[in-house]
Amino acid sequence: MNVQTAMDLDSAPGDAPAFRPAKGMRYPRFLDRLHASCAFSWYLEIGTQKGRSLQSARCASIAVDPHFAISSDVMGEKPALHSFQMTSDAFFETGFVEKNGIAFDFAFLDGMHRFEFLLRDFMFAEAHAAPGGVIAMHDCCPSSFGMTARNQDEAPTSAWTGDVWKLIPILRTHRPDLTLTVLDCRPTGLVLVSGLDPQSRILQDSYAKLEAEWRDVALADYGLERFYGCFEYADARNFMRDGFPLFKSG
Ligand SMILES: C[S@@+](CC[C@H](N)C(=O)[O-])C[C@H]1O[C@@H](n2cnc3c(N)ncnc32)[C@H](O)[C@@H]1O
Repeated sequence: MNVQTAMDLDSAPGDAPAFRPAKGMRYPRFLDRLHASCAFSWYLEIGTQKGRSLQSARCASIAVDPHFAISSDVMGEKPALHSFQMTSDAFFETGFVEKNGIAFDFAFLDGMHRFEFLLRDFMFAEAHAAPGGVIAMHDCCPSSFGMTARNQDEAPTSAWTGDVWKLIPILRTHRPDLTLTVLDCRPTGLVLVSGLDPQSRILQDSYAKLEAEWRDVALADYGLERFYGCFEYADARNFMRDGFPLFKSG
């Protein structure tokens, strides 16, 4: 499959099927309601930026970002907030989670938008998930080819999802034991992963192969029809009204 270039970013080739953008409630609102409804003990956030998503959490939290740009009260009701101004890979190396015996009830992965980074973030979050824990992955449902460029400066607009869309087919194929619920949260979806198995080594053992296999796969070549064949959107508002099924305290 071809390497994606700026040339093929904005239009589907020929009469390829159209994008199906997520059209449900906005993801920060969903996160607000989720945290307000569920009594989590520990929350992990990879990618915090100004702190909008971190603001939602009410439990003990860990936030990781190499460039925090906090501009609001992110402490709120949290009994503890540990901030790590470094990449997620550097954070994993600190051993902080292991040393403190922390297990996450909920993790929101919204850091570097390249699939191999999200895959590593996912592997770490799963390995440290509490029983019944859930991982949310952001930006896996792009609405244009342009926003899927691996390099942010090649994306024609400020909306950049990178190529983290690949996590949906990768997990579907290699981890059929997991449950993926793709919420229609605007603007670019929210993928909830439940049925986590902290003991699983499947992704760790096939990481190098997956990285090589998927690195140069462009969404235009993979095909929108094939991509949308991997999932159907679930209505985030209904999910909320149903009391956040999947979440142990939901
Ligand atoms: C889209 S923003 C996060 C937005 C935030 N979660 C929200 O919803 O309000 C992505 C963040 O990921 C951070 N980031 C980039 N590379 C990263 C890495 N390797 N590890 C962790 N965070 C990273 C960026 O600095 C940026 O602040």
